[in-house]
Amino acid sequence: MMSGANKTWKIIIFARSESELVTLEKKLEPIVDGIIIDTRPQKEGYQITGFCLNEPEERDLNSCFLEDTVSQRVTLPKYEVRQIFDADWEEEYKEQTKPITVGRFFIYPDHFCGVPPVKKVPVAISAGLAFGTGEHQTTSGCLMAIDKIVEKGKALETVMDVGCGSAILAIAVSKLVPKASILALDNDFMAVSTAKKNIQKNNCKDTITVVESDFYLASEIALFRPFDLIVANILADPLIEKAYETASQLKLNGRLILSGLLRKQSKDVINAYNKAGLIMVDTLELDGWMTLTFKNRQCIDKNPNRDFLC
Ligand SMILES: C[S@@+](CC[C@H](N)C(=O)[O-])C[C@H]1O[C@@H](n2cnc3c(N)ncnc32)[C@H](O)[C@@H]1O
Repeated sequence: MMSGANKTWKIIIFARSESELVTLEKKLEPIVDGIIIDTRPQKEGYQITGFCLNEPEERDLNSCFLEDTVSQRVTLPKYEVRQIFDADWEEEYKEQTKPITVGRFFIYPDHFCGVPPVKKVPVAISAGLAFGTGEHQTTSGCLMAIDKIVEKGKALETVMDVGCGSAILAIAVSKLVPKASILALDNDFMAVSTAKKNIQKNNCKDTITVVESDFYLASEIALFRPFDLIVANILADPLIEKAYETASQLKLNGRLILSGLLRKQSKDVINAYNKAGLIMVDTLELDGWMTLTFKNRQCIDKNPNRDFLC
């Protein structure tokens, strides 16, 4: 495997359906250092672009994509691997990360030279190779749901951002509720490093703590829970798998925002969280991507040594 100081590899793959998009994103994630997804369908399908700091092995790519396609008896999705130079990557990054407005938030990248609108809440985000520029419907959905919960006057003392990526959601909460104590976690060390830089850039270092953690494995989580609000923009399957553990981190009447799922997956997610004691209080759909808000109706044991529902 060859590595270059100023080179990056780009894998472009087209998913032919929304479900293939979700599957391929999940498959590609462990192989690449960053992913950009374009959920507007093109002639070839939905474009997924993966960026690698080291040259990806064609053998790994083929076996990764073939594993699913063979079992489903369909052909290999179309993909190509290109080597690009940092300058190209930066240009592409600038092109894809223009300032955007979502609800009350004005999200702008490093290269923005203007002045944020006075009536908006400014959030400076440099996503780098982490997910979370605000463009994706799942991130926008979470931002809108956060905005709504805060606007309704829900008191937020403790908040957890699960799968924080660039930390866009943690920073957004902190900008609206500066006194909230926020824990942001991600299992990807690159995301953790990007999150820390963004938190510093937005002057939120005193109120947001970032940890590298596979869901709730990190010991620091016990110091923060129970939470008034948890936001988790991951994928339907892991969200379903972690329904009980996630619910058990919430205060009574605490809110949970889930995103990263398609409309047809939402029934299974809702069932899993209903079984874990939560009721759904709000939904938002953006181009087929769902953001669901739940409320916790169960009480949890305050004893930090006991993890689960009482
Ligand atoms: C779709 S991105 C969401 C990023 C950001 N929160 C947003 O809304 O734009 C999902 C993030 O979850 C992280 N992730 C995936 N599986 C995880 C796990 N088991 N534990 C913690 N983080 C995870 C990924 O590394 C990625 O940064």
